[in-house]
Amino acid sequence: MACGVRRAGAACALLPAAACALLLTAGCTASTPSPLTPGGAGAERVAGLWWLLFGIAAAVCVIVTALVLWAVHRRREARPSTRSGRRFVVVCGVLIPAAVLTFVYVAGLDGMRAFDDPHDPDQLDVEVTGHQWWWEVRYPGSPFTTANEIHVPVGRTIHVRLRTADVNHSFWVPQLTVKTDLVAGRVTHLWFTANRAGVYRGQCAEYCGAQHGRMALHVVAEPAAAFQVWLAGQSRPASTRGSQAFTSASCASCHTVAGTSARGTVGPNLTHVAGRRFLGAGTLANTPANLARWIQNAQAYKPGNRMPPQPLLPEQLDAIVAYLETLR
Ligand code: CUA
Repeated sequence: MACGVRRAGAACALLPAAACALLLTAGCTASTPSPLTPGGAGAERVAGLWWLLFGIAAAVCVIVTALVLWAVHRRREARPSTRSGRRFVVVCGVLIPAAVLTFVYVAGLDGMRAFDDPHDPDQLDVEVTGHQWWWEVRYPGSPFTTANEIHVPVGRTIHVRLRTADVNHSFWVPQLTVKTDLVAGRVTHLWFTANRAGVYRGQCAEYCGAQHGRMALHVVAEPAAAFQVWLAGQSRPASTRGSQAFTSASCASCHTVAGTSARGTVGPNLTHVAGRRFLGAGTLANTPANLARWIQNAQAYKPGNRMPPQPLLPEQLDAIVAYLETLR
């Protein structure tokens, strides 16, 4: 009987550990944008907090499990006096948890300061506007508009001004920032610095309609020189060679290509679309074949988005894809 109880106790001890391991590994791949692989100082604070909480939770789990096993083991031995039992409950059930929770609360508040305005005169401003379901990106002082991809120089403070064109969204790049809401009728702000070069995937973190899940963005952190090259490239108007195919189709009523007669503002600005990594806010890798599929029927990949299927002749589609592929 006692042996059975002890075995049950051991099983109880193993269960939380197994559950933890399962939760930690479920859904993780090498490319998962985990807050535990931070790319900036603020995110490092978040990761530090996570490990602190994990360490405390693991210690509590081990201590409680040990106490349960100990209690099961000494059940038949002399019971402690009521007085020492009460003291144990007050110290371990009230005082220690209160101290731990207060410590964690203060550490959390302190961690939030990592995302305050650092008042850096050298900060780079970026304006991000949320749309159902994509991100419009501008750099004040630069003449271009881009979408779903934010390039930033490594080591420099980035100030992001967030607005929404329709419903509330939330900007979240787990390896760089905490979630910051885009609230209708308001401008919200966030600051971050990327400490190492890389491509950081972000995601809308506030339910905003049917394709909330396909509202991703990518922050491309690169050395200052590479960033300047990118900035200069984006500021150039697009090539107009072959633009006829694009401007004569219905594309131009919703999209802009700088330097051509296409000036629509419903959908993303396509001036340098071929240089972006993804189509449809992270929905498809940006390849010529995917671009053709997307133009033909974007609804098949992102149902409910505002781009209707395009009934184009094969040669028209080929000409449009060939033109868009020149826009680097
Ligand atoms: Cu935008 Cu969810």
